[in-house]
Amino acid sequence: MKPGKSLMKHYLQFKDFRREEYDYLFERSAIIKKRFKNYEKYTPLVDRTLAMIFEKASTRTRVSFEAGMYQMGGSVVHLTTGDSQLGRAEPVEDSARVISRMVDLVMIRTYEQQKLEAFAAHSRVPVINGLTNEYHPCQILADIYTYIEQRGSIEGKTVAWVGDGNNMANTWLQAADILGFTLHVSTPTGYEIDAKVAGVRHPSCLKTFKHPLDACRDAHLVTTDVWTSMGYEAENEARRQAFADWRVDGEMMAAAQPDALFMHCLPAHRGEEVDADVIDGPQSVVWDEAENRMHVQKALMEYLVLGRIG
Ligand code: CP
Ligand code: NVA
Repeated sequence: MKPGKSLMKHYLQFKDFRREEYDYLFERSAIIKKRFKNYEKYTPLVDRTLAMIFEKASTRTRVSFEAGMYQMGGSVVHLTTGDSQLGRAEPVEDSARVISRMVDLVMIRTYEQQKLEAFAAHSRVPVINGLTNEYHPCQILADIYTYIEQRGSIEGKTVAWVGDGNNMANTWLQAADILGFTLHVSTPTGYEIDAKVAGVRHPSCLKTFKHPLDACRDAHLVTTDVWTSMGYEAENEARRQAFADWRVDGEMMAAAQPDALFMHCLPAHRGEEVDADVIDGPQSVVWDEAENRMHVQKALMEYLVLGRIG
C-alpha cells in the first residue's frame, strides 16, 4: 500500500462530493449494473482489499459491499466490535493507522460521525461511511440512482420525508441542497430535523410540515424509515407513542403525485412507519432500491480506488 495518495478522497457524508461527481457516479452505476445483468465480467479491483468494520448490525450494507467487491475482483475483510480489538478500547486512530496499511479501502458503520472522521483522519486509504448516527450517504446514493432509473432527473422534484429527523433525513437534506430538489419533512415534536447537522447552503430546499399528509402533497417521492434507529433502542416506547401518526398510508400516497414512488431504506416494520399496502403496493420500489445499493457502491469503490475511468 502506497501512503499519501495525493488525490485521496473519503466518502463520509453526502456533501463530500460535488454535483458533477454525482452525475459521473450515476453514469458509472448504470454501466456497471448493465454489465452485471449481462453476466459480463468486470474486475477492475483485482488484488484490492476492502475492510468492512461493523459496530452496528447490517444485512444490505454487508451483502452489497461484500458481493460488489468480489464481483470487481477484490476481496473483503469483515470486522465487528465484538471480534476485534475495537471492542476492547484500542484507540480508533491506532486502528486506522494499522488497518489502512494493509487494505485499499475501508467501510465503517458506527455510532458517532466523529469516530468515523477520526478514523479517516488517520487512514492512508479512502474511508466510506456505511451509516453513522448522523448520516447514511450510500443509501441516499442508491435511492437517488433508483429515482433517476425510474423517473429521470431528480432536479426540481419534491421528496417527502415522513418520520424521524434521523441519519437518513439529514442525508436527504444534503442531497436536496447539492442536487437541487426540495425536501418536505414532517416529524413528531421533539424529533425534528436539525438543518445545522446537514449544513445546507440553500435553506430553501427544506420545507417542514406539522402534518405528514401535508408533507406528501404533490411529492414525486415519499419515503420514511423506522421509528427507532439503531442505538436509540432505550427510547423505543416513547417513540412508539410519539410516531403513531407518522405512518405512510394510502391517503398520503394519494396526496402525492399520481406517479409518485415510495422508498424505504429497509429494514421496515409494516404497520408502524408504513402500511403493508404501501410498501408492498405498486408505487413501492424498495427491492430495486435495495439492489441498487450494490451497483452504486461498486461505482463508488471504483471511483475512490481508481479515480475516473476513461
Ligand atoms: N438500509 C441498510 O443500510 O440496511 P442494513 O442495515 O441491512 O445494512
Ligand atoms: N435510520 C436507520 C437506518 C437503518 C438502515 C438506523 O440508523 O438504524
